[in-house]
Amino acid sequence: MSAGGSSGAGAAATGVPEAAAPTAAPAAPREGSVLTIYERSREGRRAFVAPADDVPEVAIEDILPASEIRTDPPDLPEVAEPEIVRHYTNLSRQNFHLDEGFYPLGSCTMKHNPKINERVAALPGHARLHPAQEPEFAQGALELMWRLQGQLTEVAGLPHVSLQPSAGSHGELAGVLLARAFHRAHGEEERRTKVLTPDTAHGTNPATVRMAGYEVVKVGTAPDGGIDLDDLRSKCDDTVAALMITNPNTLGIFDSRIAEITATVRDAGGVLYYDGANLNAVMGISRPGDMGFDIVHFNLHKSFTQPHGGGGPGAGPIAVSDRIEPFLPVPQVVRRAPENGGPPRFDYDFDRPLSIGKMRGFQGNFGVFVRSYAYICSVGGDGLREVSEIAVLNANYLRARLAEPGIAEYLPLAFDRTCMHEFVLSGRPAKQELGVKTLDLAKRMLDYRVHPPTVYFPLLVDEAMLFEPTETEAKETMDAFAEVMRELLAEAARDPSIAQNAPYTAPVRRLDEAAAARRPVVRQPRSPGHEPPGDPEHPTQVTGGKL
Ligand SMILES: Cc1ncc(COP(=O)(O)O)c(C=O)c1O
Repeated sequence: MSAGGSSGAGAAATGVPEAAAPTAAPAAPREGSVLTIYERSREGRRAFVAPADDVPEVAIEDILPASEIRTDPPDLPEVAEPEIVRHYTNLSRQNFHLDEGFYPLGSCTMKHNPKINERVAALPGHARLHPAQEPEFAQGALELMWRLQGQLTEVAGLPHVSLQPSAGSHGELAGVLLARAFHRAHGEEERRTKVLTPDTAHGTNPATVRMAGYEVVKVGTAPDGGIDLDDLRSKCDDTVAALMITNPNTLGIFDSRIAEITATVRDAGGVLYYDGANLNAVMGISRPGDMGFDIVHFNLHKSFTQPHGGGGPGAGPIAVSDRIEPFLPVPQVVRRAPENGGPPRFDYDFDRPLSIGKMRGFQGNFGVFVRSYAYICSVGGDGLREVSEIAVLNANYLRARLAEPGIAEYLPLAFDRTCMHEFVLSGRPAKQELGVKTLDLAKRMLDYRVHPPTVYFPLLVDEAMLFEPTETEAKETMDAFAEVMRELLAEAARDPSIAQNAPYTAPVRRLDEAAAARRPVVRQPRSPGHEPPGDPEHPTQVTGGKL
């Protein structure tokens, strides 16, 4: 990449698009991208007109009670087909996505999701199955779920699985409720009121603990990035209900003292919860069950090829030890022994008197189960191990590239040691010496059409940037990204205002993210001429097609 970011030759060599030339003027919204579908509406326009009925007409009043019949027509946009196609195509082009470019968003495992898994999930027998279908007519789906449960027990090293939770954080909630049920069964529910979490924990861990009604007790981090064992010991007593920890942790560091950690908590009578969101680093290499854990959640929408960042359906199954099994959510998907010489039958087991109950309606996001099952079957056990090995190799390669001169003096490693699947840099020197914050650099990356890493997390690293390249990225992509980083910093050394005012090519410039989070306005105006909602004094709250 050329020093000025303007040479086409540099772009061809690195494979990463050149950054747009910086400009102080706000980016002009792209043609056709600013109006909502309601604002495009014109009375009488239609995309598709159904042919006239060729069956006898029946008056709606004859088939529905008056209370169910609306008096006003619905307020739907009236738009012709080309307008609809352009509207959604333009919207989709504003979105940065994994199919477009590098997405090293730490702790999100934004890896490529093989397209064949999408095809399998879209098969009508999978995609059109009704969630209320009787088990006898959904045997294939139940068998798939039962087999997926079996695969996950092997990955976890724990003998029982529930597929009910629908996100990592939902699995955490199930896990803490299981810990409570366990202590209740042992007459210790009242006494055990605290859950320990490391100060490096993902935000969902303490949030879950509070949501389940427990007190959060933070455990400190040792200088090597692992848990501070002395601090842990000093906090382990008979009031501890559980320890919730991820390994490797959010610094990308595998805690080699894990057996001592789990033994300490177990000796104090606590339940051991493993946040499996970082499993992509250790699949087929080390197992939470073997490390001494009772409960683990999987983020199927990270390690098992379902998109994670950006929301959408997910799945956070849990695997548990024998001592936790009686409390698992209902229903469990089970295989019943053959009757009268027939094949085995797959069914729901609701007969679980100690269960914590249901975690959600129906059975979960079935399409996610199909994708994960297809993925595990296609790569196999050895393949999963290879996935993790390459994820770790790639992270260490990128870590080494970003430790080169031109980058490392401004963005040093927070913990200078071999990492697992992700690693953290600190932007403190860039802020102090160049006057550009981590946020500025992240925004400028958007102009190069690469997604920034996770920023300002983990909290204990000043100006943190958390990178996770994943195993599906080629060496050339990581090399190109390292060059982008070098170029950004060289550019910032010449003129910090460029990064400070970035991005220049995104559909919107800098938003007031704090206001958007605190006072979100999510309603769009319903029709042209309609006053946009929100406080005119705080225009960033208002989308209303006026951005
Ligand atoms: C370490 C860790 N724990 C828990 C979670 C929560 O998972 P989810 O986003 O599915 O609720 C994440 C999400 O990225 C994570 O990185």
